Amino acid sequence: MLHYIKQQLFIEKVSCLDLVKTYGTPLYAYSRNYIQDAFLNYTHTFSVSNPLICYAVKANSNLSILRYLAHLGSGFDIVSGGELQRVLLAGGDAKKIIFSGVNKNEQEIKLALTAGILCFNIESLPEIDRIQKVAKEINVIAPVSFRINPDVDAKTHPYISTGLQNNKFGISYQDTLHAYTYAQKQSHLTIVGIDCHIGSQLLDLTPLKEAADKIFELVVQLKQKGIILKHIDLGGGIGIPYQENEKSPDYADYAKHIAPFFKANPEIQLIFEPGRSIIGNAGVLLTKVDFIKHNQNKNFIIVDAAINDLLRPALYDSYHDIIPVTLNKDLHPIQADVVGPVCESGDCLGKNRILSVQAGDYLAIKSAGAYTASMASHYNSRLIAPEILIDEKTHKIIRSRDTFEQLIQNETPFL
Ligand code: LLP
Repeated sequence: MLHYIKQQLFIEKVSCLDLVKTYGTPLYAYSRNYIQDAFLNYTHTFSVSNPLICYAVKANSNLSILRYLAHLGSGFDIVSGGELQRVLLAGGDAKKIIFSGVNKNEQEIKLALTAGILCFNIESLPEIDRIQKVAKEINVIAPVSFRINPDVDAKTHPYISTGLQNNKFGISYQDTLHAYTYAQKQSHLTIVGIDCHIGSQLLDLTPLKEAADKIFELVVQLKQKGIILKHIDLGGGIGIPYQENEKSPDYADYAKHIAPFFKANPEIQLIFEPGRSIIGNAGVLLTKVDFIKHNQNKNFIIVDAAINDLLRPALYDSYHDIIPVTLNKDLHPIQADVVGPVCESGDCLGKNRILSVQAGDYLAIKSAGAYTASMASHYNSRLIAPEILIDEKTHKIIRSRDTFEQLIQNETPFL
């Protein structure tokens, strides 16, 4: 979806130069075709297990993206009442919504029960009581599943690793039977599934396969106790290449590993909760080079995007490829840090990059579709950048740039 034609960067058939001239910078731009291909890759590769794909809204929660995924048949994995309202507003089917997260408050639970979601992924024993209480109050039966912590090392960044005993997520593996039998006794709960999510940006399938096997063992044990499940949710977590030497995991290999279980248990539906692998490489963040600064020992390419637009490098030391929008063959390449205007030394979007650019040029920061706009902030009173969606030759704005008035609208001057 991202390619050069005649020395100029294109997304699908749209020139990035035209985009920055039309909408200004910083600017998030997403390819609709890429999102579609990434979504269909899941449904096709795992077709033998007839999966329900519940897109993880936190990766990118723009209403137009959600609407498009709903149109493709996607379900949604949500973690707050805000995400629930977004999905419903975008036309998502409540019956395909899974509510994850370690602390859903009573109001959020009520909202989800009223909407009629597919299930709650319960993450602790006290949460059973909370959901039972709310369901009883409004006299409905709450469908529940348990997020089990399989104690598998995802071998990813510690901040995005979730499947180990010392992580806050999920019910301990050894407490599984207790959790299910306790939930079974509740008057307003019905057990529908089991879930795990061990972390994000996994490029190696080994931990995902290990976690799946541990969940399958539990499903067998639960069946022996008379607890029959309708679905197994294997979470999200499949990684994407952020640089040339990285490769997506082999989906077909993963599908082959889990298919025998689902073939043997055709009544059980497979669910995935992917976020990054659907939208991550569908997007770029376009930014303008404002200055080239030469310090004694270091060069800086100062751009107009910053950590408030792309927090990942500062938070996880993560790498995003950065390429010029137009190729400057006549310029000498320099080695430089690509930095933004925010007053923090951590406001660095790329360290020691070799780039041929001059002031006035534009750069594309790649793999910026997931956990980028959705993690943006107003830090330094900066305005959140606009988002556009590209479909072949057309592009349209799906979030306009904030105005200063919006930035301060909830504040009251204290006199
Ligand atoms: N399901 C649950 C319960 C999750 O917590 C997550 C992500 C997902 C699904 C989707 O995972 P994915 O397929 O996107 O890996 N901000 C971090 C990533 C945090 C992931 C949080 N949970 C980053 O920028 O790398």
